[in-house]
Amino acid sequence: MPNINLTIDNIIPFLPKGEIFNLQPQVSKIHEQMAKGEGAESDFIGWLHLPSNTSKNLIKKINDTARYVKENADVFICIGIGGSYLGAKAAIEFVNHTFYNQLLQTKRKTPEIYFAGQNISSDYLSDLLDIIENKDICINVISKSGTTTEPAIAFRILKDALEKRYGKDEARKRIIATTDKEKGALKKLAVQEGYETFVVPDDVGGRYSALTPVGLLPIAVAGIDIAELLEGARDFEEITNNPDIKLNLSYFYAAIRYLLYKKGKSIEVLSSFHPSLHYIGEWWKQLAGESEGKNGKGIFPASVDFTTDLHSMGQWIQDGQRIIFETFMMIEKSNREILIPFAKNDGDGLNYIAGKSLDYVNDKAYQGTALAHKDGNVPNMLITIKDRTPYSLGQIFYFFERAIAMSGYLLDVNPFNQPGVEFYKKNMFTLLGKK
Ligand code: PA5
Repeated sequence: MPNINLTIDNIIPFLPKGEIFNLQPQVSKIHEQMAKGEGAESDFIGWLHLPSNTSKNLIKKINDTARYVKENADVFICIGIGGSYLGAKAAIEFVNHTFYNQLLQTKRKTPEIYFAGQNISSDYLSDLLDIIENKDICINVISKSGTTTEPAIAFRILKDALEKRYGKDEARKRIIATTDKEKGALKKLAVQEGYETFVVPDDVGGRYSALTPVGLLPIAVAGIDIAELLEGARDFEEITNNPDIKLNLSYFYAAIRYLLYKKGKSIEVLSSFHPSLHYIGEWWKQLAGESEGKNGKGIFPASVDFTTDLHSMGQWIQDGQRIIFETFMMIEKSNREILIPFAKNDGDGLNYIAGKSLDYVNDKAYQGTALAHKDGNVPNMLITIKDRTPYSLGQIFYFFERAIAMSGYLLDVNPFNQPGVEFYKKNMFTLLGKK
């Protein structure tokens, strides 16, 4: 059953349905190529059947390791950057308590989780070292290539802190490495030191790796049911095995964004109305940006958090350069309901909505915004997510992965490489005097 839905009423005035369905032959051709593994960089198509191919043994190994971490650590640190951290971060924020790390351990029942190696900030790492003082720690260092500078620096520093605290032997039991099965500096180190390891499959690129051990181990440590997550993704894999745009939500969304891009809408703003979607937006930006932005082409993916950003970016979206379209994301049902209380003297003038739920008001805020933006010539569509369960999350991950791959191929770029990322590295290494 799909737990996500796409509403396109505010797209139709800008893009008639017929135009979308006319794209079917191109979509079908790309679908066939992907299914046969014949598109550009088809050795990176492993994510396509990841949900249905993940073995019970792997799920068990991940859950066993997560249990070990929960029993031995107050704090779990995930070291990684880009695709090696965004999926886990997005999942934990989507499913778990908004203030997860601050909850009492007796309520949370799982370790505090922090991320490192996603920047080179001295203060960030120093502050993290403060947080973990006097707490038992386990570390998951994640790098597919095993050679990325940011996580390597963070790992060197945190490994050192761990060895000083526990001694080398105990420290090595508290480190788990997720990396390539045979190549890279991290793999070499993991073998030398005897760390527990998980493999990032060869045929799954970083930004498509949320449903591999890259994402699954931290997600399991956070107490989220990874079997349910994979079930959601698997059901969506099945739904989207059909090339028909009318039945395949991922391709429907991909076709719309591609056609809007062709009409000069070169920026897509992902606007969510729930803070738990913030990192889904960050994850999506990496997925879309790195997959499509190449050869002088690609939609620029931006994200905003409403209603917060209606008081900042809302102005630009309503009234700025008309080169954007918008994809709203709403969660149909919050985990918990709060009603607006009645006040005797109505000093703040809110009694007209007394007794209404915050979800109700948030939904009206969405409706008002969507209409205003349509009137301001911003084509917009709505992704509705049923709830904040791991099952729904699995569907969101898979929905976007399949859509962005299709979208990249429609643009005639290779959605699975990222040659542009090497340029800053080259300059940085020269400046650092790397031999
Ligand atoms: O999508 C990608 O491939 C990248 O964004 C990587 O995830 C990111 O650069 C981290 O790479 P690695 O896991 O090799 O350290």
